[in-house]
This record gives sequence, structure tokens and C-alpha cells, in this order.
Amino acid sequence: MPDSTTATRQDCSDLFKPVRLGASMLANRIVMAPLTRSRAGDDGVPTALMAEYYGQRASAGLIIAEATNISPQARGYAFTPGIYDGAQIEGWKKVTHAVHAHGGTIFLQLWHTGRISHPSLQPGGALPVAPSAVCAKGNAYTAAGYQPLVTPRALETAEITGIVEQYRRAAHNAMAAGFDGVEVHAANGYLIEQFLRDSCNHRTDAYGGSREHRARLLLEVTAAVAGACGAQRVGIRLSPVSPANDLGQDSDPAATYLHVVKHLSDYGLAYLHVIEGVTQGSREVPGAFDLQLLRRAFKGLYMANNGYSRELALQARRRGLADLIAFGPPLHRQPGPGRAPAPGRSAQPARSQHLFRRRGQRLHRLPAAARGGSQPADRALRGGSPERFRISFSGTPQRQW
Ligand SMILES: Cc1cc2nc3c(=O)[nH]c(=O)nc-3n(C[C@H](O)[C@H](O)[C@H](O)COP(=O)(O)O)c2cc1C
Repeated sequence: MPDSTTATRQDCSDLFKPVRLGASMLANRIVMAPLTRSRAGDDGVPTALMAEYYGQRASAGLIIAEATNISPQARGYAFTPGIYDGAQIEGWKKVTHAVHAHGGTIFLQLWHTGRISHPSLQPGGALPVAPSAVCAKGNAYTAAGYQPLVTPRALETAEITGIVEQYRRAAHNAMAAGFDGVEVHAANGYLIEQFLRDSCNHRTDAYGGSREHRARLLLEVTAAVAGACGAQRVGIRLSPVSPANDLGQDSDPAATYLHVVKHLSDYGLAYLHVIEGVTQGSREVPGAFDLQLLRRAFKGLYMANNGYSRELALQARRRGLADLIAFGPPLHRQPGPGRAPAPGRSAQPARSQHLFRRRGQRLHRLPAAARGGSQPADRALRGGSPERFRISFSGTPQRQW
């Protein structure tokens, strides 16, 4: 239950008021960040549990549904959903229908994992692909459990148009599945970010070398996706200084990401989504890189994410630092604001369903990325400031935000 101070603070903020986002009208400025749950079938088809889960969270202004493979080659984690075939489109229709039935708005995050994959997840046991043959440290989560990441195969230049086409088709499919828009996942050390940073991209063709060249894949993907959905239904997610998935920093993150954002701004996109700092970690940004420069360089709405408490979100709005705030675990642990679970049902599936998937008779622990990125999903429950989790939408009918 909100105390009177909370209620007064809420009244002062437009965080809880409607806002236009491109082609959609959102009920509030609170966004459910994309959260991989690894609950799809082995064929990448979304399940009934996913429809229930997203439907429960429809009172967030916007849901960005979990990272979703744009092709079989894009896959880097077992049990993640896809958006490249008819059965997957039909599965997603149940999700979008559940969210729309509760008055919500939902975008789909489009994903190619690049080198963060494993031959056992790839068609024909092929090597994962990347800008360059540079191996990341870490493990892939496969159907047989964790397996060390392998050295990927560097993409041939001629193959890259095929990757752009995979994004275009996935965006088209997302529209067919009833999504209100899509987010291009260009963050957290996956394929597009592997191209963006010179720490990982050692190419000498038109997609490597200068920052103009390294940004080319993202800009081509953006043009293709905007062509399929309409630019006003497209957002882009960046994580300019995050080392997620062992991706080394760019030699000049401020110059590289400012270049990228200035060009993205020309497309008339709905929003720019920035993970501020280390994904799920420190909000500190090294060096003299002021992320507000990105906000100022971009014409659409600016969505901020990473470590936002209720108070920090209110403050960001009061100070005009962000248009929308995305929250991760607080929203996946609880349904959205004002949405109570049905009588006799828990607000969320049992803990074992969050962290484990039944395979045969064995309960198999999900990978950290599926549970909560590089840290256990319940980190937030064990640590973090209590203030932060007051934002959690308690599942009571009273609005807390
Ligand atoms: C369980 C879990 C799954 C995640 N899956 C994704 C994902 O699919 N795509 C993505 O871009 N980020 C993913 N992230 C990162 C979150 O979207 C978010 O950036 C991160 O949790 C930081 O926000 P927070 O401090 O509000 O939690 C995931 C995080 C968690 C905890």
C-alpha cells in the first residue's frame, strides 16, 4: 500500500501519466525492460505461460518483450523464442492478444546473438558468426547445459545483406503477430554491438575499421526494420559502456555512440533506449562520457534503464533527464501497476518456474542470462536498496506508481 508521502510524490510526477510514443499512446512512462525467460519451446514457439506472464504486466505503459531470435542462426540460448516462422508468429499472437486485452502496448525485441552462441544451438552444428573470429569468455546455455563459448566464424561481406534481410523479415513477422512495434537489440555484447566496437570488430571491409563503417550494420538494420514497420514503431537499444558478454570497451565510446545516435536520429524512430552504465551493475559511466549527449542528439523519446529506483525515476522526470524509464526485475517479479493476480493465483509463477525448467525428471538451472543477465535473478531480492523495490508493483489493486 502506498503511504501518504508516496501518494503525494506520485501526484507531482508525470511518470504515471499518458504519453505518446511514436504511433502508440502509452498509459504511463513506465516500461518493462526486455527480460529473457527461456520459456519457449525448443522450436522457439512462445508458450501459454508467456501469454499469461505478459498479460499480467500489461499496465506498464510499454512492455518490451524478451529478446527474440530473428533466424535460426541468431539463436544463442536454449528455449528462447523466435520470430522467423509461422508457428512462432501464431504463438506470439496469443501474447499480443493477452496484452492488448488488458489495454497494454507491447514491442518485440529483435535479437541476433552473434558470437554468444554455440554450435549445438546452430543449424547443422555450424560455428556461430561474428564480425571477427574473436572468442568471448564465458559459457553458452545449451539444451545440454552450460558449454564454453567457441571462437566464431567471421562473416563474409556478402553474407551481411542476408543478416539485414533476417531483421527485415523478423520485423515484418512481428507486425503480423500483432506487436505495436519492435526494438532492435544493439546492446549487451550481441551481434550488432560486436560490430559497433573496435574491441571486437577487426574487419577491413565496409563494416569494419572507422566508426562510420562499424555503425553500418546497425544503420542498415534500422533502415530495413523501419521500412517493414514504419519508423514510428521502432526503438533501438544501446549499452554504450556496458561490458556485458565480455565485450571490451570501444577505444572512444563517446565518439562512437554519438556518431551512431546522430545517424539514428535521422530515421524518425520512436525512441532510443540506453542502458546507463554496466547492465545490471554500476550506473557509473567511465571517462568524460555524458550520456545526456546521446539524449540531446536524438529527436525521438529517450528511454533510460539500469538501476532505477522509484525515487530515481521520479527525479529523472522532474529534472527532464529521460522521457521513459525502463525497469527490469521489479516488473518481472510482480505484475504491473494496478493489476492484481486473479483470486487464488500467485502474482507470478512459483520460484522454481522462474529459475528452473523441467527436463525429463531433472530440474535444470537456467543460465544466468536467462535468469537475470550476468547475475542471479534473485540478486535483487537479496541485495539492492529497499527503496528500489518499493517500486515493485505489489500485486495489490492500489496503484503504487
Ligand atoms: C532475467 C533478465 C533477463 C534479461 N533479458 C534481457 C533481454 O532479453 N534483452 C535485453 O536487452 N536485456 C535483458 N536484460 C537486461 C534488462 O533489460 C535490464 O537492462 C537490466 O535488468 C537492468 O535494468 P534494471 O536495473 O531495472 O534491472 C535482462 C535482465 C534480467 C534480469
